[in-house]
Amino acid sequence: DTVYLNGEFMDADQARISPMDRGFLFADGIYEVIPVYNGVPFRLEEHLRRLARSLREVRLDDPLDGAGWRRLCEELVARNGGGHLSLYLQITRGVATRRDHAFPDPPVPPTVFMNTSPLPVPAADQPARTAGVAAVTLDDIRWDRCDIKSVSLLANLLLRQRAVDAGAAEAILIRDGQVTEGAASNLFLVRDGEIRTPPLSHHLLGGITRDLVIELCREHGLPVVECPLTAAELADADEIWLSSSTKDVLPVTTLDGRPVGDGRPGATWKILANHYIRFKR
Ligand code: PDD
Repeated sequence: DTVYLNGEFMDADQARISPMDRGFLFADGIYEVIPVYNGVPFRLEEHLRRLARSLREVRLDDPLDGAGWRRLCEELVARNGGGHLSLYLQITRGVATRRDHAFPDPPVPPTVFMNTSPLPVPAADQPARTAGVAAVTLDDIRWDRCDIKSVSLLANLLLRQRAVDAGAAEAILIRDGQVTEGAASNLFLVRDGEIRTPPLSHHLLGGITRDLVIELCREHGLPVVECPLTAAELADADEIWLSSSTKDVLPVTTLDGRPVGDGRPGATWKILANHYIRFKR
């Protein structure tokens, strides 16, 4: 595996970061996960736009412009042989001389790290097929800026692990009676023939896959609305889907131990998932 660290490409086991890095000390940084299909980063412009926004929101100067990031992504993908990959990109506030909550003054260069890992992807001519996954609902214990793609993910990790401990693939999060998103995914449900997803706010991440699902629904005449969703609406939804760059659109067939709809991936999911597979390559 070839990784990128602070201006250089190197073998993964050659990469070294100081323990004084603010990413290590404070999780003071942001990240992106970009799917790569057939060697081509998918929705790269959208991911780079979100990256720039995350940097702005945590007051980190963008070390590169769009063209610079694009070149780096393409080069790292090429050095790892192309194909289907998950491309990870992280930027932290750099290596401090001492541990201090306040930003280093004068500022230090950010730490920039990128790597790739294999991404399992169904063939383009293969219809969407899955058994679906189990999910559990949990209280959303995260902070108030879930719209920032920050590496400070401790709450997400604790929530995901509680789901795993319960034999489920994902935690669906509830804040003040309202559904926000999954611990590492966005959420859609189907009720009365309508596809619904919570509106963008500081309480959820604006997923690139979420945007694409909405776009594809509109393009193919599937009714989709962004509206607040209560835990009660979720509990008796006909279908529930999760979306993310690494999961695509995944049907939830069991919620809190009870079947969703008839307990199998729904008819609307099948239609959307097949549009999705066709669109991405
Ligand atoms: N997670 N919400 C949260 C909290 C997420 O962590 C993610 C993605 C999403 C979906 O966003 P997108 O469609 O842009 O991938 C929503 C990535 C994949 C991760 O942390 O690995």
